[in-house]
Formats: sequence, structure tokens, C-alpha cells
Amino acid sequence: MSTTTPRTDAPPHHRVLRVEDVRKHFKVRRTSLRGPRPHVHAVDDVSLTLHAGQTLGVVGESGCGKSTLGRVIVGLEQPGTGSVHVGADAARAGTPQARGTVQAVFQDPASALDPRMTVRQSITEALPELDRAARDERAAEALEEVGLPRETGERYPHELSGGQQQRVCIARAVVARPELILLDEAVTSLDASLQAQVLDLLKRLQERTGVAYVFISHDLRAVRNFSDRVAVMYLGQIVEIAPAAAFDTGLLHPYSVALRSTEARLPNDTGERTRRIVLEGEPPSAIDPPSGCRFVTRCPVAEARCHEALPELAAHGEGGEDAEDHLVRCVKPGALAAAATPGADTVSEAVR
Ligand SMILES: Nc1ncnc2c1ncn2[C@@H]1O[C@H](COP(=O)(O)OP(=O)(O)O)[C@@H](O)[C@H]1O
Ligand SMILES: [Mg+2]
Repeated sequence: MSTTTPRTDAPPHHRVLRVEDVRKHFKVRRTSLRGPRPHVHAVDDVSLTLHAGQTLGVVGESGCGKSTLGRVIVGLEQPGTGSVHVGADAARAGTPQARGTVQAVFQDPASALDPRMTVRQSITEALPELDRAARDERAAEALEEVGLPRETGERYPHELSGGQQQRVCIARAVVARPELILLDEAVTSLDASLQAQVLDLLKRLQERTGVAYVFISHDLRAVRNFSDRVAVMYLGQIVEIAPAAAFDTGLLHPYSVALRSTEARLPNDTGERTRRIVLEGEPPSAIDPPSGCRFVTRCPVAEARCHEALPELAAHGEGGEDAEDHLVRCVKPGALAAAATPGADTVSEAVR
């Protein structure tokens, strides 16, 4: 299907991903003989949906659970509790999980490709049901789709540059026409101009095929520009999920605001440079997350009640049709945003 209408005017697309209350903990080695075996809270109570032709960005500092969430979404990891529904199945409740319609591209293309297989063999692996000639033709078309000559099919991975290898990985992901592709730091190892090229290519593929992306990256600018919606994670949980434009016009969770303030290349609504908010301390251990709000130990605007109960991820704002579009897990949404404007010398001064 090809479409020339801007996506914002497109009719509502069907749902291709539904994640419900997913939790994934990993048991880790004991550090003492007493007590239960400790586990890492890699992902806790994550729910989200994604529609065809849309991109959901996932950001948050290293170790917050982005990759684990991605691996659970594509079925490389089973959720501890909760469920993941992909494809047509995502539109209905209570049906078994479908996996055929999802693919993934990871950060390191060299390790993702078998060095003993030609590019064509790697790509056609995903197409078992066709005869040889048809498979080879599909592989050649997929290579052209990602901007590589058909003849690349006869080459081996080591003969290609990193950028070419990543294009091969993308060709392999798109060849079976999946409804959803996980991109986990997929352009991180490419240099800036190649990154832009590959992101552009992915966007055109999306416009042409309606594929949905889960785009995991620590690069806020790339996520802001490439995604329709963005989920901000902290210590295994989504603390805020909003349209990507909220990066310009108003993130609400104190963690999101602090994270955003570290990226100087993002524009803001006033045109002034938002003051950088340096969070104190390290993120707490995911083995023993703080009770109450998980961000409480580093939050510049925390109050006593923030230590007591974990806030729900809830709609914020004036209500109306778009209210469900912007969810935030905070009892004081926007409090730090107000303090992050230029002028005040320190955050604590500004929020006092
Ligand atoms: N297989 C595993 N066994 C034990 N701990 C894990 C495993 N995979 C991830 N973790 C832990 O889960 C947390 C989230 O990791 P990850 O999802 O890789 O985060 P991110 O991709 O945001 O950097 C980290 O504390 C990490 O050490
Ligand atoms: Mg990761």
C-alpha cells in the first residue's frame, strides 16, 4: 500500500501491539545467605499500545529496562507476568500470542549476521515458505528497498561497511513484511550522517508499508524526531508517555524534565535554552527499588507523600479527547518543569 497523505491526516490505524501489565524480573546471585534470592526489577507493570504506521520511542538511562521490554515485546524473553499481543491479535483481548509478524534490529550488525552466510542467505532465512527463485527475488528487492545494489546478496558480511551491514539487517527485518519492528539502538553505532540516512530510509519504509516501530534509543534527539509517541522509563517503569511534541511543549514528570534538560540540541517552547538539571546521586539499585515513587531518592521536588505510595500512570491536564494521550506517574506533574526555566540559579532555589 502506498500513501502520499501525511500520517497525521491518515485514518486511525489498527492496533499492532498491546502490552498489558508486563513484569520481568531476573533472579540474580545471592550476596548473603539469608533471605530470599534477590531479583532485578528489569520491567515492572508496563502497559502500552501501538498502532500500524506509528513509532513509539522508548528513552531512559542505561539499565532502566528498555532492552528487556523490547525483548519481551518481540518474544525473545517471556514476560514474568502480564501479556504481549502482536499483530491482528493485538486488536482482540484474551487471544493467544502471535509472533510471526514481528522482527528486530539491534545495535551491532556484525554480530547479528552469520559470517559464513552470504547476505542473500541471511535475508532469505526469514522466508521459508517460498521456492528458491522467489526467495532470491524477494531478497534482491529488499536490498534495493534499503538502498543497496542487488548484487550485495552475493557478498559476505565482512566485505561490507558497518552502515551496509545495518542496512542488510534492516532488509532482513522487512523482507517478511512484519507489522512491527523493534529497533533497539539500531542506529547508535553509525556515524551521524549515516544515522540520518538510515532513519530516513526507515521512515519511508513505514510510509510505504505501514509497519510500526518500537524505537529504543538513549539519543533523545533522534527519539524526539523519529517517534510519534515517546515512553520515558525509569527503573523498570514508564514514568511518562506522551506525543513526541511534548518534548518541545511540556514534559511533566520531573525525571523526564531532567533527562530532557541534558539534551541541549532540542528546541524548547520559549526559544530559550532550558537550564540543565543535574540529578544528584546514582539511580538506585533495581534489585531493591525505593518504596513509593521510584524516582523519590533523586527527585528535586519530592514531598513526604512521594515516599509513601507509588503514583499511578494517569492522564493529566484539562481532560477532553487528548487527555489519554499524555500519561504521567507523578503526584506533582509539571512541578519541576516550572523550575527548569532559565533565571533561577539552582533548582532547589527555583522550586522553593
Ligand atoms: N538476563 C539478565 N539477567 C539479570 N539481569 C538482567 C538481565 N537482563 C537485564 N538485566 C538487568 O535488568 C536491568 C535492565 O536492563 P536493560 O533492559 O538491558 O536496560 P537498558 O536497555 O535500558 O539499558 C538492568 O539492571 C540489567 O542489569
Ligand atoms: Mg539496552
